[in-house]
Amino acid sequence: MEDTGIKIQPTMYGIFFEDINFAADGGLYAEMIKNRSFEFTLPKTGWLEPNSDRHSYNKESGILSIIKYSEEGANHNFARVEVNNDEGYVLINEGFRGMGVKEGAQYDFSVKAAKRSGDIQKIKLQVIDSLDNVLGATSITPDSDSWKTYESSFGVTKTEMKAKVKITFEGEGEIGLDMISLFPQDTWKGRKKGLRKDLVQLLDDMNPGFLRFPGGCIVEGRTLAGRYQWKKTVGDIENRESLINRWNTEFAHRPTPDYYQSFGIGFFEYFQLSEDMGAEPLPILGCGIACQFNTGELVPMDELDPYVQDALDLIEFANGDTSTAWGQVRAAMGHPESFNMKYIGIGNEQWGPAYIERYKVFEKAIKAKYPEIIIVSGSGPFPEGDYFEYGWEQLKQMNAEIVDEHYYKPPVWFREHADRYDSYDRNGPKVFAGEYAAQTMAIASPKNKNNWNAALSEAAFMTGLERNADVVYLSSYAPLMAHAEGWQWTPDMIWFNNLESFGTPNYQVQKMYATNSGTDLLKITEDGEKIIGKDGLYASAVKDVNTNELIIKVVNTLEIAQKLSISTEGSNSQQGNVGVLTMAMDNLEAENSFEQPMKISPKEGSATINEGRLEVEIPAQAFSIYKIKG
Ligand code: AHR
Repeated sequence: MEDTGIKIQPTMYGIFFEDINFAADGGLYAEMIKNRSFEFTLPKTGWLEPNSDRHSYNKESGILSIIKYSEEGANHNFARVEVNNDEGYVLINEGFRGMGVKEGAQYDFSVKAAKRSGDIQKIKLQVIDSLDNVLGATSITPDSDSWKTYESSFGVTKTEMKAKVKITFEGEGEIGLDMISLFPQDTWKGRKKGLRKDLVQLLDDMNPGFLRFPGGCIVEGRTLAGRYQWKKTVGDIENRESLINRWNTEFAHRPTPDYYQSFGIGFFEYFQLSEDMGAEPLPILGCGIACQFNTGELVPMDELDPYVQDALDLIEFANGDTSTAWGQVRAAMGHPESFNMKYIGIGNEQWGPAYIERYKVFEKAIKAKYPEIIIVSGSGPFPEGDYFEYGWEQLKQMNAEIVDEHYYKPPVWFREHADRYDSYDRNGPKVFAGEYAAQTMAIASPKNKNNWNAALSEAAFMTGLERNADVVYLSSYAPLMAHAEGWQWTPDMIWFNNLESFGTPNYQVQKMYATNSGTDLLKITEDGEKIIGKDGLYASAVKDVNTNELIIKVVNTLEIAQKLSISTEGSNSQQGNVGVLTMAMDNLEAENSFEQPMKISPKEGSATINEGRLEVEIPAQAFSIYKIKG
């Protein structure tokens, strides 16, 4: 085992976050009311009026109408409710495929209301199950003709995954309602109106080196108008303009017409989450090209300035002191200190001369004002081919710092490309393996599985990322999360429903790497050769100067166990106990599930090292990590 003199970057293993598959609204963002401010294209989406029959000639129990405050600003609509209580008017919100509530947990209800006429004395909120049983309830007393926010908390008596919210009224008359909101109190770090704790915990447990946000294709938009605009996602939540989610109807096989972005998680929250997890924030911004798989709409070169200004202002928002305009916005949101952002990405999966031309303008402006910021550029959506070659060639000529690569390929491709980076130019740009995942069926096929075959193949491939830590500076699996009933794209690293979540075998592989990343690359060979697939074995090794450990990662893709005899000659680890972490499964089709969330997960074991030799048997189809105290 030889030292290579190569450092493992602290950013080596990170997280790619995109609001796809209900990852933000309906997922990480713990808001339980869907379409809380009536801003969807069909503004009553998610809201039901079970006792109201618009088509009957009978007197109605009430009417829900959507009124526009104004076309201007961010919050366009509110709901006007006319209540005729003889008939018992009821409003129901269905949540994101239901709402998950837990026995004994506390919930925060809030609503903006303005009385218009008559006298509605009380607004009652009940959490109900499918049989209309009440699981928790509270009420507020509207007392003003002007808009006012009312808040009330309550407990829930029974756990239910498909709860709904029922709103009833005491008194009769007309009232305006907006920002109808329900959150659990038990959020990540107990933040009010915060993030879902179990999901952030899974992310935090990975010890991620960075958090890339907000995507993905969502950055670009299907059209320029639908692109992600970070400035519209900061400040008061009410003033963040909702946007149709680009994954809403992207795939005919998984339409989710009720998928919008409330931006309850916006750029401030992403920076804060990065900070919470000790991960470098890595925002990616659009470069004036809409998704080239959709419209490919281009901003003319002489109209690019506002886009470039967005990038400069973002750096000021993240890092500027409180005397700067955007630093002040950050401070007003509760974070006067800098977020100490070091990286920015320009463009997601762009290709061709149109990208390079625009990228150059961004690069010049960013480097002129913030030379210390490291810029991530992109090589397009594919890991080879004309777009990829052209992008790389151009970016190399420009001395680009870090180039993002994406690969969604079959499991076998991952095993066969564990040497991908062995031939990369050591003096060229560094690589961000920014999106990758083994596709068991076909790219983005709804039949793809997060099975052991995919995860084991990724584990084998990742020995190649690690062995090339002088080229690969960052890497992340994609997509990150999926709601079991609201997804558009599979496979995904974490699956969740309204109550539970679990890490797939792919998550466990990522976690094993990220929590054992080490600090310095070592050379591990067999008969002087790199271990990349011969006898189905793949290996890499690092040492960790902080924990004083030698960490050896081995993947065995064969259907039989194999004896390994590893010499630690050259290190000072000659004798003693070795911690072993192993994930193994004879069935390559096996998956984790809500019922068996840890079916495929690392098991701890031990071994001994004698006179500088570690003699172990790696099980069939296994990924093992051997940790040797030095
Ligand atoms: O991860 C899903 C999508 O795959 C991303 O949005 C995009 O960048 C890639 O095509």
